Amino acid sequence: MRLDKLLANMGFGSRKDVKALVKGKRVTVDTKVVSDSGMQVDPEKSNVQVDGQKVVYKPFIYLMMNKPPGVVSATEDNHDRTVVDLLRPEYQHYKPFPVGRLDKDTEGLLLLTNDGKLAHQLLSPKKDVEKTYYAKILGIVTNKDVEAFLNGIQLEDGYVCKPARLNILTSNDQSEIEVAISEGKFHQVKRMFEAVDKRVLYLKRLSMGELELDNTLKLGAYRELNPEELTYCQMIK
Ligand code: URA
Repeated sequence: MRLDKLLANMGFGSRKDVKALVKGKRVTVDTKVVSDSGMQVDPEKSNVQVDGQKVVYKPFIYLMMNKPPGVVSATEDNHDRTVVDLLRPEYQHYKPFPVGRLDKDTEGLLLLTNDGKLAHQLLSPKKDVEKTYYAKILGIVTNKDVEAFLNGIQLEDGYVCKPARLNILTSNDQSEIEVAISEGKFHQVKRMFEAVDKRVLYLKRLSMGELELDNTLKLGAYRELNPEELTYCQMIK
């Protein structure tokens, strides 16, 4: 890989910026001062340093965000702020994208990565990756609803959902529930409740596969996945 590409990917600016660093004799490869910013390096093996600091090459980034309401799960949008807009530039330069969509008003666990293979595996209907949500529901959620969810709810367009586990936390005119689904149709949870004549008032994703929302993340905050979470991601790839 070209040195200027590696450094540009790692956030050292454009190739022109990297050229300036090289001209300033600030870059070394295997302890030798670099004179050609286009030289070939091995991202895994070469010891690349800028101003004496080792540059550790990471091709992929994996971030867990507690998505706030009012922000869209997209990389760009003409009207609204996106989840990518919330990231610091050192993460944005990896060009991460959200894995699946949460509605603008939905909160909770959102994975952002530039690893297309992982995203594909997490979203593939064949993989049956379970997502769990906490929701506040307008209406009394009953055991009949639990049964209907288990049997497969039919949405208004005729689609029959896969069995979903519905757990009632409190049941009154504003019920609280947790629901586990293994597919990701557009507005799925909201539409499932509409099919049983109820309305989702608040929705938060708690988990996706073995990735659980870190409760210490405030709304809009994010962090890199920890080694255990990364192991899970490697496993399902
Ligand atoms: N189901 C929904 O209805 N909305 C979401 O954001 C996620 C799942």
